[in-house]
Amino acid sequence: MSKNKLAKFAEMATFPHVFQPDELRGEAELFPMKGRWGERFFKNTHPIVLELGCGRGEYTVGLARRFPNKNFIGIDIKGARMWTGARQSLQEELSNVAFLRTRIEFIERYFAPDEVSELWLTFSDPQMKMPTKRLTSSYFLQRYRSFLIDGGLVQVKTDSRFLFTYTDLLLKENAITPICRTEDLYSTETSATLPAEVLDLLQIKTYYEEQWLSRGIPIKFLSFQLPREGQLREPDAEIELDDYRSYARSKRSSLTVSK
Ligand SMILES: C[S@@+](CC[C@H](N)C(=O)[O-])C[C@H]1O[C@@H](n2cnc3c(N)ncnc32)[C@H](O)[C@@H]1O
Repeated sequence: MSKNKLAKFAEMATFPHVFQPDELRGEAELFPMKGRWGERFFKNTHPIVLELGCGRGEYTVGLARRFPNKNFIGIDIKGARMWTGARQSLQEELSNVAFLRTRIEFIERYFAPDEVSELWLTFSDPQMKMPTKRLTSSYFLQRYRSFLIDGGLVQVKTDSRFLFTYTDLLLKENAITPICRTEDLYSTETSATLPAEVLDLLQIKTYYEEQWLSRGIPIKFLSFQLPREGQLREPDAEIELDDYRSYARSKRSSLTVSK
């Protein structure tokens, strides 16, 4: 591990708003904030918003600056990335920000029913090969239901045509109508149709987003309300793979579509 990473980890361990439970030691089961984030950490009853796969936490911090009456928690497994947003929010004395280092697969351990009102998924890995690892799949939406309010908002910002198409099809399959849906967020046509306050939020740009934009990849956005009830079904369709990503890390695949 690089010196730089070690220094970041050491500094993160001192941050009062960063939670890094040791799941092997059973710290998740005894996690003191579950169901009590408002009471014990934020010291208020404001709505809680999560950024899943937050990386450096640009949305967690950017939204926290804009909405002092909401609480924001960035979640990622990679601590060295999270350090950037954690440090920034501490320096700016943002009292409505926390970070949680865990795998999103374990997220139900950290939040109680109805504790969260909104989710942001920012440039999630499309997981073209593995639907069960895709953060907008029915497998994950079902997990989110265990702590999201009924009809809680899910906001998905992505470069990936694959993930966008997949999520769009999943919504159709489950008769969920998107609130907002655009395949080219920064086009002048889209700007003309979106309300100014939504446009402002979508101007926050993440590290990965900047990379994709510099390669000329249009940014897509979908938002929808997730109902609590009803069985969620996966879409049954072949979806064209993103041609700018490798399908498998180790070897190039000749596949061009996936479910
Ligand atoms: C492509 S990066 C995007 C990071 C950031 N949102 C951005 O836009 O710059 C995806 C992030 O999701 C995190 N991630 C992916 N799957 C995860 C999982 N199952 N649990 C926790 N973090 C995950 C990765 O560690 C990574 O930081």
